[in-house]
Amino acid sequence: MKTQKLAIIGVGHVGSSVLATALQTELFGEIVLLDPKDKVAWGEGLDQMHAAGLLSRKNIAVHIGNYTDLADADIVIVAATHVYPNGEIPADRQELLTENLPIIHEIMTNIVQNTQSAMLIFITNPADTIVYIAATYDYPRNLLLSTGTMLDSSRLRQLLGQRYQVDPKSVSGYMMGEHGFAAFPVLSHLTIAGISYDKLSTYFPEVALLTAEEIKEKVVQAAYDVFAAKNGVTNVAVAQAAIDIARCILLDEKSIFPVSVPMTGHEYHFAKPCAYSVPCVLGKEGVEKKLLVSLNSWEKEKLAESVASIRKSIILTE
Ligand code: LAC
Repeated sequence: MKTQKLAIIGVGHVGSSVLATALQTELFGEIVLLDPKDKVAWGEGLDQMHAAGLLSRKNIAVHIGNYTDLADADIVIVAATHVYPNGEIPADRQELLTENLPIIHEIMTNIVQNTQSAMLIFITNPADTIVYIAATYDYPRNLLLSTGTMLDSSRLRQLLGQRYQVDPKSVSGYMMGEHGFAAFPVLSHLTIAGISYDKLSTYFPEVALLTAEEIKEKVVQAAYDVFAAKNGVTNVAVAQAAIDIARCILLDEKSIFPVSVPMTGHEYHFAKPCAYSVPCVLGKEGVEKKLLVSLNSWEKEKLAESVASIRKSIILTE
């Protein structure tokens, strides 16, 4: 039986977290690591291989490789990024574009020469612009996405779970738009046990209802709390998001995750193409369906702000 193969491009803070999470899931029989700093990638692989001896699935091959290894990869997770020196914090993820744009061009040039069938999951920031750029290459559109606001959505569920003292998994809701300052909660579709957000006070009178704007600010700030405490890095939650996506696709689970995908513009009546997060059904065909949920007027305004922010960065690449 063919084992599932994962390739991780960029094995820094994020890529090594992806590797650790991938090993824990025991989904993959082979994991190949690509990084210009071969030695560090090799060391990371070796260190984590030592953990593999402690897992129940023992026959996981982890090795460093090159782009030809992508030919039979099922999933490719791109975590390559410029790292700011001395734990500097990017004021805005968009600032990473200058440094990360040539990195993504190089990666995509190599990917398309070696595969047309692997699912490409981008983590590299600015997430939306990066997936937009990736989609300009000759590669199946349904096979590329960025983790986008999947991470922000998890932060949203965590925030509300804590406030309402319920399991975050019992909060059904998501963030849409830019993976950045303009990300926004879609409260018009958020529920806890099927109770809509505006009715929650009936059941939880002890909890003051936050406005959509307040929630948005707290969720967006959450990343910066981690950046500030971890020398400019967040790595664990985004790695989990990428592996959850990989698992859903490999097992054809049809989960609905908010991920960033290329958009023509027509979906929400914007003049120009873009890429941003909407809830998507994911399965063995990759992005199988984009759910263009109805938005209230505040949400429409925030989506327009997201698109404006991402377009500003796309224009710099053209
Ligand atoms: C974050 C990074 C991955 O939000 O953009 O944690």
